[in-house]
Amino acid sequence: MAQSMLLSTGIHYENLPQRYVRPMSERPRLSEVVSEDVPIIDLGCHDKEKVVRQIGDACKSYGFFQVTNHGVSMESMQKTMEVGREFFHLPVEEKMRFYSEDPLKKIRLSTSSNVAKDTVGNWRDYLRLHCHPLEEFVHDWPSNPSSFKDVVSAYCKEIRQLGFIIMEAISESLGLEKNYIKMVMGEQGHHMAINYYPPCPEPELTYGLPGHTDPNAVTILLLDEQVAGLQVLKDGKWIAIDPCPNTLVVNLGDQIQALSNGRYKSVRHRAIVNSNKERISVASFLCPANDAIISPAKQLITDESPAMYKNFTYDEYYKKFWTRNLEKEPCLELFKG
Ligand code: OGA
Ligand code: NI
Repeated sequence: MAQSMLLSTGIHYENLPQRYVRPMSERPRLSEVVSEDVPIIDLGCHDKEKVVRQIGDACKSYGFFQVTNHGVSMESMQKTMEVGREFFHLPVEEKMRFYSEDPLKKIRLSTSSNVAKDTVGNWRDYLRLHCHPLEEFVHDWPSNPSSFKDVVSAYCKEIRQLGFIIMEAISESLGLEKNYIKMVMGEQGHHMAINYYPPCPEPELTYGLPGHTDPNAVTILLLDEQVAGLQVLKDGKWIAIDPCPNTLVVNLGDQIQALSNGRYKSVRHRAIVNSNKERISVASFLCPANDAIISPAKQLITDESPAMYKNFTYDEYYKKFWTRNLEKEPCLELFKG
């Protein structure tokens, strides 16, 4: 793909440009997508054992769940959506100074998924930020909209806390010590992608994001309340997720699949686009420290379930992930033991 193909330029497309058109066999086949009740877990529930059980069940069968009473304020959620939207509505010249195609940059505006590797474009622009430790990164974040830094910092802090709560519950649900995942992950990284999917002239022919698994440990998604687009794969079928107010979506990434020795799945998910409305999502990626060594937990290795994956550092994994294009076979396949 050529340089700087940002979609959020104010240009209106009557037809889908050729570089976004998927071959027939890779199209989303939207008529085959199903609706299904997906797990919604009330984290405010006083019966903590029940919460752990529900999370365990969801992680096993879906690799995905939604949470309510999660401790992230509604105000933070709404404002983060708003500043994200305002950012993408800025004039293109204003945004372009953040533009980069280098996936290892700590702040960048980009498009598609991995401009250097994608053979077909994805109908998405995104702003990707490193968020931890905040003091190290926040001064490079956009100062237009003027509240961006404050709003997004506050949101990041709340999300990070929620991430720890979820990791504790996941550890316990695997029969591991409560702090197990937190210990293995070390000083956790935290990245964010504010995804912007403009209206698309031919949504049947392309994706916002094609089916993929996330390379990190746990992803927490804030979805646009007005416009659906997230779909998850379960038992060979794509399920459409209806956004619910005040609810966050949690999906497991590759590191939890590795650490759980395959008991929990890194769920395959995708974003589809639509012809009349823009859609925003904010993905918070909690990741192991770069030097963290990831391996299947000893307690989960038995005669019946030998170690499925090799030991690797997150740094190795993450670099490998970005040398590939998104819809290839899951990156974790390359780390099988
Ligand atoms: C992602 C992602 C889904 C969405 O950013 O990795 O899967 O609904 N986003 O935007
Ligand atoms: Ni994802």
